[in-house]
Amino acid sequence: FPCQLIRNFSIIAHIDHGKSTLADSASGQNKQVLDKLKVERERGITVKAQTATMIHEFYGQQHLLNLIDTPGHVDFAWEVARSLSACQGALLLVDATQGVQAQSISVFHVARERNIKIIPVLNKIDLPQADPERIANQMCSTFGLELADVLYVSAKTGRGVDQVLQAIADRIPPPKGDASSPLKALLFDSSYDRYRGVISLTSINSGVLRKGDKIASSHSRKRYEVVEVGIMHPEEVSTELLLPGQVGYFVCNMKESSEAHIGDTFYRQGEKVEPLEGFKPTRAMVYAGVFPVDSNDFLKLEESIKRLALTDRSVTIQRESSTALGQGCRLGFLGTLHMDVFRQRLEDEYDANVIITSPTVPYKIVYKDRVITISNPTDFPDVYESTHNVIEIQEPMVNATIIVPQEFLGEMMDLCSSHRGQNMDHRYLELAGAAGVDTAPRVILTAKLPLSEVVTDFFDSLKHRSSGYASFDYEDAGYEACNMKKMTFQLNGKPIDALAMIVHHSAIHDIGKLWAKKLKDVIPRHLFEVAIQAVVGSKVVARETISAMRKDVTAGLYGVSSYLSDSQHLTRQKEGKKKMKRIGSIELPQAAFFDVLSNK
Ligand code: GTP
Repeated sequence: FPCQLIRNFSIIAHIDHGKSTLADSASGQNKQVLDKLKVERERGITVKAQTATMIHEFYGQQHLLNLIDTPGHVDFAWEVARSLSACQGALLLVDATQGVQAQSISVFHVARERNIKIIPVLNKIDLPQADPERIANQMCSTFGLELADVLYVSAKTGRGVDQVLQAIADRIPPPKGDASSPLKALLFDSSYDRYRGVISLTSINSGVLRKGDKIASSHSRKRYEVVEVGIMHPEEVSTELLLPGQVGYFVCNMKESSEAHIGDTFYRQGEKVEPLEGFKPTRAMVYAGVFPVDSNDFLKLEESIKRLALTDRSVTIQRESSTALGQGCRLGFLGTLHMDVFRQRLEDEYDANVIITSPTVPYKIVYKDRVITISNPTDFPDVYESTHNVIEIQEPMVNATIIVPQEFLGEMMDLCSSHRGQNMDHRYLELAGAAGVDTAPRVILTAKLPLSEVVTDFFDSLKHRSSGYASFDYEDAGYEACNMKKMTFQLNGKPIDALAMIVHHSAIHDIGKLWAKKLKDVIPRHLFEVAIQAVVGSKVVARETISAMRKDVTAGLYGVSSYLSDSQHLTRQKEGKKKMKRIGSIELPQAAFFDVLSNK
């Protein structure tokens, strides 16, 4: 397949607009070929970008169509950018019953920035409530596209899919690449196979990659021999070589996951090449501690985390230890969904039994002479007003976009205000009374919000308060000064180290009360009174007291029975119950920590 017969493209869309269904329909397979991971199948979302090659005939010639799948959720915008770097075009897929959503806008911008050909596609036209004409107009006015370019399909019935394939061949330019130039192979993803070691996904920029080639990494200068090359069709199919413009995989004698650097350029040993532009390293925006339920499992857990992180390079890993929870890892994620998905994959694929502490965002502590970024509340200064060295504390901000039917605008504005939103603005996505508009017009609401407000319950409230109609996305908006305080908890004056949190000054009393109450519910009674205090600086901001046990009362199972209701926690509690932790003279079942810290 010479370059001119190759098309590298991707499908970009808001979640659930039918990306995977269209991919399956286009590749003529009826099963969901792209959503390989179990968690994706269960949740019906695409988490990790995959690739698949299809062979189609146009104008009497076989063409190679490389579909590079992209994830469809706000947390994974970076993966979208990475996948698009191997593409010359993208199908912008919009659900004809729902119209343009927040994520449609953000993925469109990512594609626009990369300057690739965008083909607008309206999906689900088979549904009776579809309003293709109106949505096509909405798409064109939102994105500045031509109405004549819009394709109408039903990924489910297959209607219009041939036209989409034809448009890919006609409108997307073939990759440029010169087979006679020195080899440059971009590594854009990798996975791990127990028997073959690291499998690298690559797009060949120039030159030819053959089985048996002796190659080297620009990043590490390490040398390798290629033992297998091939394409994803959609599973790995080995071939003799990969040509410029092709997307495929190679296996070389790479044993360690850490050797596969995303964005690395591989070249032939002995040839001098300028490396291709790599990828910006990801920036973790949400951090959480991950601990094994059984502390003897720490090394196994750490190993599993490292293996899993190979297929998900956006996760950062550091060791962390706590007296309450033992040895664990502090992981950095792109967002809370990302965190959830990672946890679930650890459980599904590695059979790990873990607890994850509630998420925090990175703060910048600006000192007179330096700035440090902290990702763990424990490292936050206790008091900083009186320390002259600290000039200010800054928190990460995001520009949020919410798209919602007009009737929920008030609710959404309330939601943003109650989450410290600023610069709120809104405009209509389409004019009321425009052709075919029989439903309420929708509004785009934009606001600047602290990321810490977004990573908690924001998304759930947004869905709840808009009856599920609101869509939401956000992008990084830098750091701003803030008035955050560190809150710790003490039991009879002794701090619980794992339980430090960073709280906005206006919420100190509410949050202090809430958590003191949560602790009260899980701490068993003792023969003496136990005081639970929420402390900020040197001030006690909330207090709960557990009265002393009377002699005739049997303690039950260390008081665990009061929170046995959640059946998911049964095993954890069973194991945790055996372990008692001491804070001063107070004995706590470890299960108490599991429940309080895992934010359930
Ligand atoms: P993510 O991978 O999570 O971003 O979702 P997606 O965009 O891949 O959506 P997916 O293909 O999983 O489709 C979402 C839902 O819409 C599924 O229940 C599909 O069966 C359904 N669906 C997709 N395309 C069509 C269509 O053309 N018509 C109808 N009626 N349903 C469709």
